[in-house]
Amino acid sequence: MKMILLALSLLPLSVMAMPSKEAQFKNSLSTVIANSTKPDVRPGMVVASPSRSNPDYYYDWVRDTALTYRSLIDFYELKKDQKIKNMIFTWIDAEAYRQNQPTFTGLGEPKYFIDGSGYTGGWGRPQNDGPALRAIAMIKFARLMLKEGNTDYVLKKLYHGVIPADSPIKKDLEYTAHHWREPSFELWEEEMGMHFYTLLSQHTALQEGAKLARELGDSGAADFYETQSRLVGEFIKDAFLDSAIGIKATIRRVNGGLGYKHSNIDVAPLLALLHNSPYQKLFTLRSAPVRKYVETLIDTFQNLYSVNKAFPELGVSIGRYPEDRYDGYVTSGVGNPWFLATLALGEYYCQAKTETKNLKYNDLIEKQFARALFHSDRAGGMSEQFNHMTGHMQGATELTWSHNSFMTAYMRCGYLGKK
Ligand code: NOJ
Ligand code: NOJ
Repeated sequence: MKMILLALSLLPLSVMAMPSKEAQFKNSLSTVIANSTKPDVRPGMVVASPSRSNPDYYYDWVRDTALTYRSLIDFYELKKDQKIKNMIFTWIDAEAYRQNQPTFTGLGEPKYFIDGSGYTGGWGRPQNDGPALRAIAMIKFARLMLKEGNTDYVLKKLYHGVIPADSPIKKDLEYTAHHWREPSFELWEEEMGMHFYTLLSQHTALQEGAKLARELGDSGAADFYETQSRLVGEFIKDAFLDSAIGIKATIRRVNGGLGYKHSNIDVAPLLALLHNSPYQKLFTLRSAPVRKYVETLIDTFQNLYSVNKAFPELGVSIGRYPEDRYDGYVTSGVGNPWFLATLALGEYYCQAKTETKNLKYNDLIEKQFARALFHSDRAGGMSEQFNHMTGHMQGATELTWSHNSFMTAYMRCGYLGKK
């Protein structure tokens, strides 16, 4: 068996047929469901990956889970699938439970044991994107429930206008409104500072939260969230734009951060623009800083990875940031392209096509999806990364976030139909 696996993994990448996007969507949906319904895990919680060693990702990260459910909520919106709806209800109960667990950093705690208790080992904490992303997903679901006439559910389980907050959305909004000025670890869990990704998510959560609060009659809170959202937006515009690279990922690093992220070029701002779409109105994709930034990002990774030169007919493999040393196992290695980053560029092209009506994007979109599928195992499997030289997958297997990013890109490109 070992020998066969070894032989398979040494096969040239181009021998096996690539799955269609449609087939991969189904595979990704079933992997997301599998990773979200593990029998040994508290119902409603999601493992970042089934991998329990090298690396051990058998935990629930607030960010990964919020993004996973955001894509399941989008799927529910399109297909009105009852099984998915029940999963969403169960998830909301699990989040309510987790928010009441004692942790080192309150709601900024990034990572939880599979029984729902806060992780107790050393970690980069807090990570303040988590509560914001969770609020954005839950607010979207609240909207869908209001539309279905299920106001009772929203008032009982999602948003209750009292202080101290006793409902999941309000807790996250209060946390976000009161902590956005503080530094926290970024989505890569490596540097304490102020981050474009975190702040844009906080801006959006507060903006959408203000609207929901107003609709539900909590108008004092609505005013407060709206003001904070505006202030976050002003701070982002003041501090993160850069004439050379478009958008900087991080400023005000605490204790110098990692000390080797000199370029400040990172896929995180691209993820921020996508994860906060269609809500944030600070930037359009056509704006000068975004265009400069995306151009810089593409050039940087195009030149960095030999796998891009080896298969030039495919889209561009994108990693986290050029100085990355995390190879999926250890942080003393060489960084690689990631599926979720590579798919993000495809999703960006789809949005850019919608914004500009420019048909030149069609070709780029297809190539970008093909790039991700090419490096997958061609049978539905996607890890976290693929090697920058050999193109073979590495890092956590069946990463939930890789699969939900495929789902999101596919849906946002309109392949599953329109709502
Ligand atoms: C695991 C983190 O999740 C990853 O982002 C990081 O690069 C490595 N640990 C090293 O800190
Ligand atoms: C490492 C990534 O850097 C981080 O963003 C993610 O939350 C964890 N892995 C879990 O997938």
